[in-house]
Amino acid sequence: MYLQKRNRILRSNPAIRSLVAETSLTANDFIVPLFIDEGENVKTEIASMPGYFRNSLDITVKEVKELWAMGLKSILIFVKAKDETKDNTGKEAWNPDGLMQRSIKAIKNACPEMLIMTDVALDPYSSYGHDGIVKDGEIVNDETVEALVKMSISHAKAGADFVAPSDMMDGRIGAIRKGLEENNFTKVGIMAYSAKYASCFYGPFRDALDSAPGFGDKKSYQMNYANRTEAIKEALQDIEEGADIVMVKPALSYLDIIREVKNAVQVPVSAYNISGEYAMIKAAAKMGWIDENKAIIETLTSMKRAGADLIATYFARDAVKLIS
Ligand code: PBG
Repeated sequence: MYLQKRNRILRSNPAIRSLVAETSLTANDFIVPLFIDEGENVKTEIASMPGYFRNSLDITVKEVKELWAMGLKSILIFVKAKDETKDNTGKEAWNPDGLMQRSIKAIKNACPEMLIMTDVALDPYSSYGHDGIVKDGEIVNDETVEALVKMSISHAKAGADFVAPSDMMDGRIGAIRKGLEENNFTKVGIMAYSAKYASCFYGPFRDALDSAPGFGDKKSYQMNYANRTEAIKEALQDIEEGADIVMVKPALSYLDIIREVKNAVQVPVSAYNISGEYAMIKAAAKMGWIDENKAIIETLTSMKRAGADLIATYFARDAVKLIS
C-alpha cells in the first residue's frame, strides 16, 4: 500500500505524542472551590460529593497553605450560612463579621499570595434559597443588584482579590465595578459568571450549602440551556460593564459555549467544572465503570481544549497530583 500521508506517525509513541500535544494542563489552570463552615475542627463530607468536604475556617486555612504548596494559586470560596442568619434581604451577605468576611481575612493573613475569589449571590443567605430578593413570588432585579454591590464591597474590604458574581441579574457587573471604584477598590477584579445556565447539575452544590431554592427554579435568571447566541451577548455585555474574566458554567455539557465565548472575547475565559460533573465521575468510578483518574484528566483537558483559560474544579488537587 502506498500512502502519501500517514497520520499515525505523530501518534506512534509517547514522546512524539507529547511533543505535538496541542493542549496540556498545569497547576496554573485551576481555581479551587472551597466550602467553609462555622465552628472549629469541623469537617463534613458532602454526601453527594464523596471525597469533598465542608470545613471550618481553622481547617480551611491549613488546607489553603497546602494548596499553595502544591502550586495552586487561586481559591473560590463559599460559606454555609447559619439558618438563623437567613432572610429575604440576604443581609448576612455583607455583615463585616460574617463567616465569609472572617474567612477572607484569615486566609489572606495565613497565605497572602493565594488569590481569593468570592462567590457573590444571595442564595446561601436567602430564606428562599434564591440568588436574589423575592417579591410577590418573583426575583427582583434592581434591588438585588444593590445588595450584590454591598456584598462585593464587603468582600473587597475584607481583602478579596476577585469577586465572582454568580447570580445572573442584569446590570450587576457595571454596578459592582462602579461600587468598587467609588470605594477605592481599584485593584479588585471581577470574574463574571456570564453564561450561567439553569442546570440540573448544581444539585450536589446545593446540598453542600443547603441552598436549594425553596420554591420554583432559577430559570427566570439563569440561562436556558437551549441557547448559544445569548451566551455571547451576556459575555460581551459583562466585559463592557467591567468584567476582567468571564465564565461559562457548567462546563461539560457546554464545551461548545466555551469555544464560542473564547472566540468572541479578549479577556480570559474560565469554565466551572461543577458539582454534578464531579458527582457523576465519582459515582461511575465507585461502581467500577470508569477509571476515575483518566476521566478527571480527559474531561479537564477537554475544557481547556474548548478554550477555557481557567477551570474552577473540585478535581484541582487530584489533577495536580496526576500531572506532576
Ligand atoms: C450560587 C452558585 C451555585 C453554584 C455556584 N454558585 C448554585 C446555583 O446557582 O444554584 C454551583 C456550583 C456547582 O454546582 O459546583 N449562585
